[in-house]
Amino acid sequence: MDTKDLHNIIIVLSCILMLKSRLTTQTTFDVTTFGAVGNGHSDDTQAFVQAWNKVCNDKGNNPTMAVPANKRFFVRPTRFMGPCSSSSITVQIKGQIIAPNMNQFNTKTMWIVFSSVNGLVLTGTGGFSGSATFNDWWRPGLGENRPAALRILGCTNVIIKGLTFVQPPRAHIAITSCTTVTITNIQITAPQNSENTDGIDISGSSNINIQQSNIQTGDDCVAINGGCSNINITNVNCGPGHGISVGSLGRDAGIFERVENIHVKNCTFTRTQNAARIKTVNEGNGFARMISYENIVLVDVQNPIIIKQNYCVKQNCPSQPSKVKVRDVSFRGFRGTTVSDVAINLKCSASTPCENIKLEGINIRSSYKKLLSASCSNAYGTSNPSNVPTCSCLKQKLSF
Ligand SMILES: *[C@@H]1O[C@H](CO)[C@@H](O)[C@H](O)[C@H]1NC(C)=O
Ligand SMILES: *[C@@H]1O[C@H](CO)[C@@H](O)[C@H](O)[C@H]1NC(C)=O
Repeated sequence: MDTKDLHNIIIVLSCILMLKSRLTTQTTFDVTTFGAVGNGHSDDTQAFVQAWNKVCNDKGNNPTMAVPANKRFFVRPTRFMGPCSSSSITVQIKGQIIAPNMNQFNTKTMWIVFSSVNGLVLTGTGGFSGSATFNDWWRPGLGENRPAALRILGCTNVIIKGLTFVQPPRAHIAITSCTTVTITNIQITAPQNSENTDGIDISGSSNINIQQSNIQTGDDCVAINGGCSNINITNVNCGPGHGISVGSLGRDAGIFERVENIHVKNCTFTRTQNAARIKTVNEGNGFARMISYENIVLVDVQNPIIIKQNYCVKQNCPSQPSKVKVRDVSFRGFRGTTVSDVAINLKCSASTPCENIKLEGINIRSSYKKLLSASCSNAYGTSNPSNVPTCSCLKQKLSF
């Protein structure tokens, strides 16, 4: 072998090595290398956008956008758009992402949005934080005119892991039109009196797992809206908050909303307004079915089990009964205390009664040592006679 051959071999070998490293190394784009300062008030929006453009266009294996620890990054409303070149994109958040004040929002419909990204992983020990002036957002009457802190829109294969969410304008996390999402080990914190601050708000999405998380907020810990199916919620601590709710469904006339295959298991509710809640409005059409709440611990909860088919938030609600069908719903293994006198409240529609409601292993006691009762209207199904309180108002109906 002469030196020319050796030379050629070395060139070929180094090409192979370069190619290999291109295929296997994970490239990290740190927002600070794009000029993000992280002092809590410099505008870091452009640096985040530039880092995102790099990570989203990177063809390597799991490129990562890094938000470093011990810094507070001020970011204005931003849409991080896919689709991206890699099938997996990680955003590693160790520091805090800080929202502008209300009057600095150039749009009131979004803060941080990830849209059309497949294989998105949001992970880290940091998170998203509202500003001190978020009380501005929580005045009654602002209604829809305020954004979720984090919206995941039209994404597939999403993981949200370990992050913290504090004081959002509206929901902490909104999952909209997504498939296959896992949310695990997150911490959500907003005051009990903060208006419309749902923990996790899901609509039009399927195959969702929410696990091992603590949610303390002013509205639903988890809200499951129209178009959702295959959702498992396990080992979630909720409270304060309004419980884990399906609905409201049927808010608008002329629309058909469906929710099915929802399973809430091993969850604890502490001083919440509700634990298990299904609510429908009497305008639209649709159904909520194949829903289970199982192995639920209650601590001083107002409404442990509640179905409310005349839910209305408007001024002049029409007087017709709800047309949304609620059926195949089971409540199993509820234990703990309630601060109200009615532990089980099934208020179903006169025209579209609830069917196949199952209650078993219910052992709910009064926080004040009072006698508890159950209340039903237009509700059909079975209640195990050993339930406490008994729910003899639930009637068998043979024709489904
Ligand atoms: C929810 O749990 C059930 C029962 O364990 C399982 O069959 C189903 O695949 C789970 N769904 C999701 C979205 O993980
Ligand atoms: C729920 O809790 C029971 C014990 O109370 C346990 O056996 C079961 O594995 C738990 N399920 C999940 C999905 O965590």
